[in-house]
Amino acid sequence: MSSFLSSSIGKKLIMSLSGLFLVLFILVHLILNSFLMFDSTGELFNAGAHFMAMPVIRFGLQPVLFGGFIIHIIYAIILTLQNMKARPQKYSSQNLGNSSTWSSRNMFVLGGLVLVFIAMHLMHFFVPIQITGLGDAKSDYDLVVDLFTNGSMGLVYTGLYVAGAILLGLHLAHGFWSSFQSIGFSNTLWRSRLEKVGYIYAIFVAAGFTIIPLYLHFFAK
Ligand code: HEM
Repeated sequence: MSSFLSSSIGKKLIMSLSGLFLVLFILVHLILNSFLMFDSTGELFNAGAHFMAMPVIRFGLQPVLFGGFIIHIIYAIILTLQNMKARPQKYSSQNLGNSSTWSSRNMFVLGGLVLVFIAMHLMHFFVPIQITGLGDAKSDYDLVVDLFTNGSMGLVYTGLYVAGAILLGLHLAHGFWSSFQSIGFSNTLWRSRLEKVGYIYAIFVAAGFTIIPLYLHFFAK
């Protein structure tokens, strides 16, 4: 078992399973965040946030989520280093466009930029909500709305969140179907089906996470 997990295929499998788990988390997170737009009293979003803060979720699911992220990142680094060792010289850029997409060739860089975005994002919401306290904000809803509406920085943060959403969408555009490929759905029929579903999912996620900060910036206050 341990030799399978340290083999190239085993590592790809771990990457894929942790990635698919994150795919699910992102969908749930987007649905809960959409409450920000559907109820300007904030009650709906606050109720969702309180549900997520229940001890069984906070202490049961959250460690699994952060574990999933860490495994995904560590294996991304190991696999990238392994690939660089196996192929020290880059492919000539001439023919790459035909056989692979821009996203697939830049997964490591895109993933790294998404990680920078998530680190900033955790400082904005996770840390005050779960660790240091809300400060001047009256509720979780106010904390989020304040970030996107306060002065000129509101516009800057709106732009950074839109950029984060686009980077995440590009990462998912390749990551989604490639995860299924690594767990065995590799024939041409499944590949083209999953590629389509992956693109729809990536566009849905990128559009959703783009619309929310823009909506809050322009219409919440
Ligand atoms: C419109 C954009 C977004 C908003 C308004 C938003 C809002 C929030 C809030 C309020 C929390 C704190 C929840 C709590 O601790 O109770 C949170 C946590 C988190 N967010 Fe986001 N988020 C956004 C986009 C994203 C994106 C694009 C990702 C990338 C995957 C992401 C990943 C996370 C993670 C990993 C956590 C920590 C786990 C958790 O507390 O659920 N978020 N987000």
